[in-house]
Amino acid sequence: MADALGVLVVHGPNLNLLGTREPEIYGSATLEEIDAELEAFGKQHGCQVECCQSNHEGVLIDRIQEARSWASGILINPAGLTHSSVALRDALIASELPVVEVHLSNIFAREPFRHHSYVSGIAVGLISGFGVDSYLLGLDALLRHLESD
Ligand code: DQA
Repeated sequence: MADALGVLVVHGPNLNLLGTREPEIYGSATLEEIDAELEAFGKQHGCQVECCQSNHEGVLIDRIQEARSWASGILINPAGLTHSSVALRDALIASELPVVEVHLSNIFAREPFRHHSYVSGIAVGLISGFGVDSYLLGLDALLRHLESD
């Protein structure tokens, strides 16, 4: 039987390096471990989770555009594109899907240029600062949001 819900998880640039990239800020979990946790969490909740990561903005935009045809929502850590990309924001709006934004670190406790997000204003909500748990809390929040619709 097909799962009723589908969520696209989008990881932005440099998140493929998790585990070795500034572990004092981003922790020691790898992207593969995070994706496995998200997929398992989704499965427990009857939701098919599909994860993607790219260092290329256009690839992420293509995946978001495609999600419109199959997904119920998008969980995204836009990484550095959070603070720079109008095009990513536009793609998320065009998808017409509910978006939850997550960050491993607390972007508001860091450099001022990280305090502004192009995504937050069009997201259902934002979770920032809980490491890997930001993703799990974000997926939980997105599923609750979808179920309350
Ligand atoms: C990040 C925060 C961003 O400012 C940064 O550019 C990242 C990761 C986070 O998950 O904490 O690449 O999105």
